[in-house]
Amino acid sequence: MLFPDSRPRRLRQSPVIRSMVRETSLSVNNLVLPLFAVPGKGVANPINALPGQAQLSCDNIKKKAKEAWDLGIPAVILFGVTEKKDPLATQAYKKDGIVQQAIKAVRDAVPEMLVITDVCLCQFTDHGHCGIVEKGRIDNDATLDLLARTAVSHASAGAQMVAPSDMMDGRVAEIREGLDQEGYTDVAIMSYAVKYASAFYGPFREAAGNAPEFGDRRTYQMDPANSREAMREASMDVEEGADIIMVKPALAYLDIITRLRDELDLPVAAYNVSGEYAMIKAAAEKGWIDGDAAMMETLLSIRRAGADIILTYFAMEAARKLRG
Ligand code: PBG
Repeated sequence: MLFPDSRPRRLRQSPVIRSMVRETSLSVNNLVLPLFAVPGKGVANPINALPGQAQLSCDNIKKKAKEAWDLGIPAVILFGVTEKKDPLATQAYKKDGIVQQAIKAVRDAVPEMLVITDVCLCQFTDHGHCGIVEKGRIDNDATLDLLARTAVSHASAGAQMVAPSDMMDGRVAEIREGLDQEGYTDVAIMSYAVKYASAFYGPFREAAGNAPEFGDRRTYQMDPANSREAMREASMDVEEGADIIMVKPALAYLDIITRLRDELDLPVAAYNVSGEYAMIKAAAEKGWIDGDAAMMETLLSIRRAGADIILTYFAMEAARKLRG
């Protein structure tokens, strides 16, 4: 049916009718807040390239987690920042490492909140790569055991979900086995299954101090040109035991989110990464865009693409906005 019989504008006449035919919704239940834990007490180091975000010591992590929970945000994902680094990333799987302390802090302050941890070595290796380096190359298989140990140490500190972001082959199976062997059969795995070698992680490197000292991450993170490979990565992780599949970054990869949503039955998560946040913040600061509107449009678009869960530095602001 064509104009004048068909008039799509009829269903846009008022806020009421628009709300009745709206296809996608964004809820605070979809949001996960990333937090950066640092040693010390009373520390809140603002992260220059992530306006509004800070590296927090555990006392402040407690406060922030409580504040997020009170806004209705169901989960945090924890990252650790430390000066203590070595070739084997020992601080990643130490019983009282910074992430392990932060997990306990959140569990203690807000027992109902879901604590997710980023499982990777790059914040803890002296060379800044996500795997063990042997003769200038990333040794995939030697890395797996350390990732599993890291995940188990997070579980034993109280994490209910672990999120491996290293992109080594076979790590989901190794982590699942490690968790099960230690009795953590109920700890879920949200796999960064489809993680691209992206320029949009720039501000995160300042936040977490994990820039690689040599080379880049293109031998393990995916080529932005590839979409079929994303399906292969995701299917492998599903078979290996992943409970949730993540795509990262989100905005330049909305097509990948949709493809995974269409082809898999698992929940799909998307990481609205540091560079995506920083772009909106920077343009809004200059007065070039309406920051709040761009934030809500961005988050809604990630939902429309098919993501169930969105990891975003906007979580607090968006939660406030959703409350009205
Ligand atoms: C660690 C990790 C990174 C991010 C999440 N986990 C950085 C990277 O892979 O270089 C990026 C998150 C962001 O940019 O917001 N491997």
